[in-house]
Amino acid sequence: MGYAEVYRDAMADPAAFWMERAKLLDWDVMPGQAVATDDQGVERWFTDGVLNTCFNAVDRHVISGRGAQPAIHYDSPVSGSQKTISYSELEDLVSRAAGGLKGLGVGKGDRVVLYMPMVPEAVITMLACARLGAVHSVVFGGFAATELAVRLTDAEPRIVVTASCGLEASRVIDYMPIVAAALDMTTADIDRVVVLERPQQAYSLIEGRDVSWHALINDFEPAGCTPVSATDPLYILYTSGTTGKPKGVVRDNGGHAVALAWSMSAVYGISPGDVFWAASDIGWVVGHSYIVYAPLLMGCTSVLYEGKPVNTPDAGAFWRVVSDYRVRVLFAAPTAFRAIRKEDPSGRHFGDYDVSCLEALFLAGERLDPPTLDWLQTLTQRPVIDHWWQTETGWAIASNPLGLQEMPIKPGSATVPLPGYCVEILDAEGTQVPAGEQGAVVIRRPLPPGCLPTLWRDAERYESSYLARYPGYFLTGDGGFIDDDGYLFIMGRTDDVINVAGHRLSTGEMEEIVAGHPAVAECAVIGVADTLKGQLPVGLVVLKDGQEQGAGEIERELVQRVRDLLGAVACFNRALIVDRLPKTRSGKILRATLRGLANGEAVTPPSTIEDPVVLDEIAALLKQHP
Ligand code: COA
Ligand code: AMP
Repeated sequence: MGYAEVYRDAMADPAAFWMERAKLLDWDVMPGQAVATDDQGVERWFTDGVLNTCFNAVDRHVISGRGAQPAIHYDSPVSGSQKTISYSELEDLVSRAAGGLKGLGVGKGDRVVLYMPMVPEAVITMLACARLGAVHSVVFGGFAATELAVRLTDAEPRIVVTASCGLEASRVIDYMPIVAAALDMTTADIDRVVVLERPQQAYSLIEGRDVSWHALINDFEPAGCTPVSATDPLYILYTSGTTGKPKGVVRDNGGHAVALAWSMSAVYGISPGDVFWAASDIGWVVGHSYIVYAPLLMGCTSVLYEGKPVNTPDAGAFWRVVSDYRVRVLFAAPTAFRAIRKEDPSGRHFGDYDVSCLEALFLAGERLDPPTLDWLQTLTQRPVIDHWWQTETGWAIASNPLGLQEMPIKPGSATVPLPGYCVEILDAEGTQVPAGEQGAVVIRRPLPPGCLPTLWRDAERYESSYLARYPGYFLTGDGGFIDDDGYLFIMGRTDDVINVAGHRLSTGEMEEIVAGHPAVAECAVIGVADTLKGQLPVGLVVLKDGQEQGAGEIERELVQRVRDLLGAVACFNRALIVDRLPKTRSGKILRATLRGLANGEAVTPPSTIEDPVVLDEIAALLKQHP
């Protein structure tokens, strides 16, 4: 069946469509009901089904004879390590880690927070939590202590699992002072900290609190799989919203496993036994879905790469990994290829490796800009596929569905909505706009399996952030249009979220941090276009009267403040002092107008603007500091 037939089937009878896909998994109790509405009025998938995600990702492959097949290829150019873990070895390690966590008191429903680099132990811990029916929450290693603390406070884990360090291209990140600071700040009552001691950074365990990774996997009885309800949470992943408080996106067990398993064949054209590489980080949703769960649910081999596209050691790193592990499909962020292109514009390194195994490249995390698409297509002579999704959905909303039917590529478009997603474009009044016209990109409910059913302990915010704006629809927060051929073009966020090097960040949160500086009267942080990282944050800052400090010094302090309180990953390197900000007559900062200005759009000042001259002043300033 081609794309159109499968899409039609999925939309005509979603229950029958997804019940059929549910057969991709082994269930303890096969669901009898596909979709039902919960107490909050939200649709939930496979409500009476019972399963274990870890069993489906690991044990069942050993039972079916894949025990000797590599499950994970770990490759760390900075530490010079490479390791392959078979499905049998993974089963052994995960059951021992699960036994360790259980021995430390972790049971079904308990939360475990991971603050870990890209090492196999991180994947093992995630799967060990799933094995116990516990809920993991991974915090990206580039976030500062305050960010970790906010997540600890919200998730209230019993245990934190961490490592002595992370490895960046040119420096070792000492994790333990960050963890210690976060533990001091959080109100969560944390029993134990499990520490993976890495040779690059020595650490002395704190007696009574810390447990070594070695002890975790050796001092306890291995644990089996705990059956859980399909609707029980598998993980919480915090993502940036419009305020300083991140949103705790909840993923369930059943719908998630069904959607991801199916996506491997339908979207990526991947079969069991194939090697799949998502060059992301386990701290992001791409890492959760396509480094850990989807490849393993499908019985594939997943590559875990603790390196960068450039500088580890050069711009040939991606092609080397593809060649070494015979990768069939590579998934990465456009920014990674922009970085490679910058260093190796002629693609010299591509020819240095035997990449004949590579069949397709998938890109996401930000819009795939046409020049990068063109360069990559010309270089690789493979399908280069832009696909659009978000932490909230957990898998692609729109893609070129390679496994169903390869469709012609249109530069700048994420191609077509995937089966299960009814994507529409609405105007401010909630009316569908004609083809080619831009508006808010929304998904008609019910969302397909795998998408978030709620925010962690905050059903109200789920409702107000996603469901309330357009009744019957899920608000994605992206703007865009659908053309006459039904191709979807995502043009950017319509809220205070920006994408820096494929990392989702909140300008609202940066504003809160900047505004906390004693010299700042008010500020706005906007994302300006950047040729390498897609967007970069820039602060526009109004100072309180009578400052004795020089502007340069204040700017440096603001940059450092965001680095300390949010993390280096924010790349907040510019704060521009301005006399005033554009506002409405009622005093609201015109953020949407500023966003347009930062994107280089020709903006028409809204009729409510207090003084249109301010916009010209800021436009001139942004031009001076490109
Ligand atoms: N732990 C600690 N610090 C981290 C980190 C991590 N996991 N990841 C990034 N950082 C730090 C970096 O060391 C850097 O610090 P610095 O300012 O002291 O140099 C800062 O955060 C910014 O990092 P980054 O955005 O990665 O910039 P870069 O200049 O080091 O590298 C790219 C540029 C394009 C190579 C890099 O951004 C990249 O690989 N991007 C792709 C990311 C990706 O896959 N995103 C998709 C997620 S789906
Ligand atoms: P995240 O939740 O970190 O995956 O970020 C999701 C956001 O990244 C989306 O809401 C989009 O703004 C952006 N994004 C992701 N993939 C794409 C894409 N293929 N095209 C355009 N924007 C994208």
